[in-house]
Amino acid sequence: MMMEEKIAEMRAKLEEALKGAESETSLEGLRVEFLGKKGHIAGLMQHLRDAADKKEAGQAINRFKADAEEAIAKAAEALKEAALKAQIRSAKKYNPTLAAEKQFGSYHPITLATREVEDIFRSMGFTVEDYAEVVDDYECFEALNIPKHHPARDMQDTYYLENGQLLKTQTSAAQNAIMKKYGAPLRAIFPGRCFRNESTDACHENTFFQMEGMMIDENISISNLIYFMKTMLSEVFQRDIKVRLRPGFFPFVEPGFELDINCLICGGEGCPSCKNSGWLELCPCGMIHPNVLREGGIDTEKYTGFAFGLGLTRLAMMKYGVKDIRDFNSGDLKALSQFRSN
Ligand code: DAH
Repeated sequence: MMMEEKIAEMRAKLEEALKGAESETSLEGLRVEFLGKKGHIAGLMQHLRDAADKKEAGQAINRFKADAEEAIAKAAEALKEAALKAQIRSAKKYNPTLAAEKQFGSYHPITLATREVEDIFRSMGFTVEDYAEVVDDYECFEALNIPKHHPARDMQDTYYLENGQLLKTQTSAAQNAIMKKYGAPLRAIFPGRCFRNESTDACHENTFFQMEGMMIDENISISNLIYFMKTMLSEVFQRDIKVRLRPGFFPFVEPGFELDINCLICGGEGCPSCKNSGWLELCPCGMIHPNVLREGGIDTEKYTGFAFGLGLTRLAMMKYGVKDIRDFNSGDLKALSQFRSN
């Protein structure tokens, strides 16, 4: 048989075999059969010496070799593509109506602490109020007996908007509006986010949460204040908490106090969270200043009241043993997702 006929026969054989090759393994088998050391093409080479025109026959074999390599590579490519298409066809379709697979979210620890304190106060007859984060200078300072240029403002530098409004530095900013809304007698708490232009450390953040409370009625005195604070704290921590009252100055209360609790993180020995004092300022409070009551439209001849500003962020740190306040705003899911409520 002439070399050309032999090559034509091989081509036809390869073509036929490629049609039936449906896997990578069968393709690899074909490659070895035709292009391998002992393959058909190597066999053709051995018959070269019998060919009449060796040069022409050699070139023809080489062309066939190149064509065979290309055809096998193309077939491999086509197989891969078909496999991918099949995979896409059989893939599960995204179904937005299916329930998430056991990936429950969790409440932020501050939300959990807030809700708990809200429940306690609700059970004692307080309403829970919501209030804005952007407020006027009047609400945040003037109505609270802090006129312009009062030194108490220095402690509460905040973020100002171009229109003169500001991000509230204290939940006390809602006192005036709530007094005007309900009048006396009044029992209300109002949790909220507060802002200060502070440098941050383990116990200071530029954003934190407070819960303000007010009780206004006839004959309200400091003993009422102490009773409500103690009841609330022992409920929150489910144990006896040591507290101490120190005199504290706030322009909107008279007299004013700092209510400290013993640091539950170090047990009172001293740690960075309590600035090594063993005590944490948790709840500044006092009897509402008559100027503030009057500004809220309350009859000061008839009514007195107390107010407090509970540090909710601090409370959550104590309750859950969080050593660094910055963890709360970090968005670190490893830290925050531990506080599942169910
Ligand atoms: N608003 C005060 C602050 O953020 C805290 C405060 C002190 C609130 C005494 C009160 C209070 O209601 O009576 O520093």
